[in-house]
Amino acid sequence: MKPLPLNSIIHGDCIEILKSLPENSVDLIFADPPYNLQLSKDLYRPNMTKVDAVDDNWDQFENFSEYDEFTRQWLSASRRVLKETGTIWVIGTYHNIYRVGALMQDLGFWFLNDIVWIKSNPMPNFRGVRFTNAHETMIWAQKHKGAKYTFNHQSMKKLNDDSRENGLQMRSDWNLNLVTGKHRIRSNGVKAHSTQKPEALLYRIIMASSNAGDVILDPFFESGTTGAVAKRLGRNWIGIERDKKYIKVAQKRVDSVQEADREAMDVEKRKQARVPFGALLENGTLQPGQILYFAKNGAKAKILSNGHIRCGDLTGSIHGVAKSLMNGAPANGWDVWFYKDEHGKKILIDTLREKILSKG
Ligand SMILES: C[S@@+](CC[C@H](N)C(=O)[O-])C[C@H]1O[C@@H](n2cnc3c(N)ncnc32)[C@H](O)[C@@H]1O
Repeated sequence: MKPLPLNSIIHGDCIEILKSLPENSVDLIFADPPYNLQLSKDLYRPNMTKVDAVDDNWDQFENFSEYDEFTRQWLSASRRVLKETGTIWVIGTYHNIYRVGALMQDLGFWFLNDIVWIKSNPMPNFRGVRFTNAHETMIWAQKHKGAKYTFNHQSMKKLNDDSRENGLQMRSDWNLNLVTGKHRIRSNGVKAHSTQKPEALLYRIIMASSNAGDVILDPFFESGTTGAVAKRLGRNWIGIERDKKYIKVAQKRVDSVQEADREAMDVEKRKQARVPFGALLENGTLQPGQILYFAKNGAKAKILSNGHIRCGDLTGSIHGVAKSLMNGAPANGWDVWFYKDEHGKKILIDTLREKILSKG
């Protein structure tokens, strides 16, 4: 088996190429597969200009079962190359995302989120026979249920709202513009790709679910959005693309990107500054016997004097009890337990930890 061809675009069919790469070697996959739009006729605007729809050869499948077989194959080849701690993002529309999602679950992927990308500037439904189709869906899944995986919670909070010292938890609905104007990659003055994704979308995905130096693979590289943003953020990248004419354009695009320096990337450091929950008892911020409230299902726990908590039959750390309440899914207790302040308002305990951290 060859070593990973880091920071390069490989020409070929992604299923074959993925099979030739070492298993358990990739940290993150972003996949923007064919949509199977099944467009049978040209689309026209009311002024009779033709709509530039996705009618490329790569999006033609005979029927659903041919599309499903293709999807099953590239998904299982992707799963093989993912590290045990790896995660995958797949983006799609109503045409394909439900089929893709079911196959992912059949293959053993465990869903972490589905994110809705709301397009601030969508194309109208020209014939006026349906709603404006204004979003795409992204499934974020891990290779194995319960495995450790990367989620840069602190960075996401800060990217989401910098008016608060500690940011604000990011939601699963993302409002981002479609790529237009000067951001569109052109070849001889003509739009080179019909499905180029916004860099802002990849920026969030890569910041959320990878660290500097990680390996990010995109099996449907096209204009190279994933490679361009990965390089900008100091990650290694691998692109696979079947169409030679796209490779040239994508290579030029990635080459023009300036890689960020390491210092600018080292933003999750504070995670290492561990604060034990018991420190909040020692400094009197919380009291033994006080009640904590779980984020879901109304569960409550009593704080014990040794920094553990008790919730019914469960006794353990804030993380351990949360994990049990979430049927074994990994949990960061700081993000799921609330205390009540003097006005009876529920506040996340993480805000107390943040105060300790900011005081050094
Ligand atoms: C939806 S586009 C990806 C767009 C990309 N995310 C971007 O921002 O530019 C899908 C791409 O996958 C490529 N493709 C389709 N089937 C493929 C296959 N079996 N192996 C490799 N590439 C494939 C197509 O040529 C097309 O460039």
